[in-house]
Amino acid sequence: MTSLFPPFKTSNRNRQMVLAHRPVGSPQASDFALRETPVATPQDGQFLVRNLYLSADPVQRGWASNPALTPIDAPMRALAVGVVADSREPTIKAGDVVYGFLGWQDYALATRADLLSHIPEPRAPLSTYAGVLGMPGVTAWLALNDIAPPSEGKAVLVSTAAGTVGSVVGQIARQAGAHVVGLTGSEEKVARCVDRFGYHAAYNYKSGDLAMTLAQARPEGFDIYFDNTGGPILDTAIRNMARFGRIIQCGTAATPSWSPPPTGLRNEREILMRALTWTGFVIFDHVDRFGEAIDQLTDMLLAGQLNHDEVVESGMDQVTAALEALFSGTNAGKTLIYIGED
Ligand SMILES: NC(=O)c1ccc[n+]([C@@H]2O[C@H](COP(=O)([O-])OP(=O)(O)OC[C@H]3O[C@@H](n4cnc5c(N)ncnc54)[C@H](OP(=O)(O)O)[C@@H]3O)[C@@H](O)[C@H]2O)c1
Repeated sequence: MTSLFPPFKTSNRNRQMVLAHRPVGSPQASDFALRETPVATPQDGQFLVRNLYLSADPVQRGWASNPALTPIDAPMRALAVGVVADSREPTIKAGDVVYGFLGWQDYALATRADLLSHIPEPRAPLSTYAGVLGMPGVTAWLALNDIAPPSEGKAVLVSTAAGTVGSVVGQIARQAGAHVVGLTGSEEKVARCVDRFGYHAAYNYKSGDLAMTLAQARPEGFDIYFDNTGGPILDTAIRNMARFGRIIQCGTAATPSWSPPPTGLRNEREILMRALTWTGFVIFDHVDRFGEAIDQLTDMLLAGQLNHDEVVESGMDQVTAALEALFSGTNAGKTLIYIGED
């Protein structure tokens, strides 16, 4: 069991990566600054977490742009995995592993409401609880299985196909017997989709004529589109859906800013004539179902049925580059920042 835990040191200083400027579009390293404060002491109902793995997630672009969620000079709103150092919350004890809204910092003062998962007995390396067993993996599991469960004979299209969410969607759909096609942004990721994540085919949406590629890949149209990008890729995918198809709107990675709102093709006629169902999904509406999804995903992981790519960088100063990489597409799966021995 202990080998699942990385080593870590303790300190009475809390380094925090704070938001120094409100970003315009996607956040840059220059929007952040490193600060230090004393480590806080938990009061009744609170516990203190020693963060070990800081997460960079695409949703932070929205969090950084929203003053109500991330005030200037406050630690960047972020998910992290850590170990409880001290607790005055009766259901959480020192040594427990937790994952949730713990911020880009060494130590977080938290309550139960900040947690997405409480993992008193980890079954997998702690880092995985922020990736394939964390918010992205659980999103893939719940959004696909609840909204448009794949099955034999169905054709499933996935965007950001090589990423954490996309690669889990692709593998679940393939194991359910569907025909699975991925869209991603480089030839190297195309190869990973096919070789590592089991897609029947994958295409680089940045090269060639995407409309023609999709029409040739599935002339009868796709039954399910798991969309993580929106924008022009979605516009093209909609025009390649089969009648009565289902679109899961999970992400909008293609749009750096919603102010002013972007313009593009009108899609309502396609939705109508193809009799499509277009459903949005927000993982934070489903916090009560993390345990159920993590159990299923852990079983798949331990049975060797779930490949995942994880890059662990060391040092809190690496965290902003990890976030930037998500919007340039240069990330190779889930990037986590290990800060246990900084
Ligand atoms: N709705 C929810 O509750 C929920 C929860 C978790 C995640 N998500 C969404 O799921 C998506 C994937 O998240 P993830 O954590 O697995 O990240 P990820 O796919 O590992 O990384 C983000 C990827 O977005 C793609 N991308 C970046 N800029 C793009 C652009 N301009 N046009 C098209 N694609 C672009 C890149 O992939 P390519 O190289 O393939 O282009 C990049 O690698 C994100 O949109 C995220 O917001 C939604």
